[in-house]
Amino acid sequence: MTQRVLTGITTTGTPHLGNYVGAIRPAIAASRTPGVESFLFLADYHALIKCDDPSRIERSRQQLAATWLAAGLDPERVTFYRQSDIPEIPELTWLLTCVTAKGQMNRAHAYKASVDVNVAAGEDADAGINMGLYCYPILMAADILMFNAHQVPVGRDQIQHIEMARDVAQRFNHLYGGGREFFVLPEAAIEPDMALLPGLDGRKMSKSYDNVIPLFEGGAKALKEAIARIVTDSKLPGEPKEPEGAHLVTLFDAFATPEQAAAFRTELRAGLAWGEAKQRLFELIDGQLAPMRARYETLMAQPAELEAILLAGAAKARRIAAPLLAELRAAVGLRRMQAPPVATEAKAKVKTAQAVFKQYRESDGQFYFKLSAFDGRLLLQSQAFAGGREAGEWVKKLKTDGAAALSTAPVSLAAGVTLDDAAQALRGFEG
Ligand code: TRP
Repeated sequence: MTQRVLTGITTTGTPHLGNYVGAIRPAIAASRTPGVESFLFLADYHALIKCDDPSRIERSRQQLAATWLAAGLDPERVTFYRQSDIPEIPELTWLLTCVTAKGQMNRAHAYKASVDVNVAAGEDADAGINMGLYCYPILMAADILMFNAHQVPVGRDQIQHIEMARDVAQRFNHLYGGGREFFVLPEAAIEPDMALLPGLDGRKMSKSYDNVIPLFEGGAKALKEAIARIVTDSKLPGEPKEPEGAHLVTLFDAFATPEQAAAFRTELRAGLAWGEAKQRLFELIDGQLAPMRARYETLMAQPAELEAILLAGAAKARRIAAPLLAELRAAVGLRRMQAPPVATEAKAKVKTAQAVFKQYRESDGQFYFKLSAFDGRLLLQSQAFAGGREAGEWVKKLKTDGAAALSTAPVSLAAGVTLDDAAQALRGFEG
């Protein structure tokens, strides 16, 4: 079966190098793997949780769409869409919300972090926290489950959300599936070495720490200026430098071949100046980004083209989302009203579901079993067995193999009972 890989990126802010290395690049690489079906989307509903500035949401959506396409995403191969163009996603979110334990949401990192900040500041624990933030993991679960993604490439900080998506999926399958798995249980796919790219100051690269290196915006100049601001130790040119643990080196590694990474370390140990090291880092990154940046600038100048690509992506996504949602609605009981089917088959099911096996021992010391219909009418009578165990095994076989076991089972049909009656009754034990 083809593997489905799905990832979303929240449309706040301007994409930075950390987004590229942690999410965009691996997702695009994965989208080119044979046998992989990729879903990439702009998580613009998620953006509303953290941002109430409409123009920023709008700009960020455009920048992100242009970024993914410039970075090599092929919208013909990949299903590329905006979350807010898929009405099935918020609908699924509600179905999932109703099977999610509140206690589990209390333990979500993103929400807990905000509570901790409030408590530390002596504020009410929930000050400034909206329900969007609280229920964020459920919307994310809907994003993933809507398309039955197997793999979700995310940063380490998102692993808990994938686990929550699995839990919710399992719960829904269990409650409503009746043996059927509506949802695939997704797994987080982490880029092993550089899932969290450090920012200028060595902490995780994040807009909220103001330590980001821009990806395309501002051109090569902005890239160069940001790299110049990377914090290093104060070793002088000529002094040996320890590459391990230096985040400038971690940044270099994210773009380097193993040979380039080894050579860079050797040079630093031999005393390469930090200024020189930054120049090497700039050249390495710019060499890879410059051609993409040119495409980015073209796309930013043509929003109508971006819009058309995204709408085509949404149509493609909805061809999958809509039929699944229809099944889920039916599963929870949100169905069209109509007279219940009175088909004889349905009636027979009710009766046969109530047929029962009974095992017992006679005064002759021998063991027997019989199958009776819902109304007590005898259907099958077994021969005598020396042990109860053997009788039990035949009961089990008849339950699992059904009519197929009738020809070999040591049983006889009760008077007036046809083989068909017995087969029908056994069907009630299926599944
Ligand atoms: N929460 C993710 C982030 O902040 C973005 C996101 C939303 C996402 N829905 C998703 C990622 C579904 C993967 C799958 O990075």
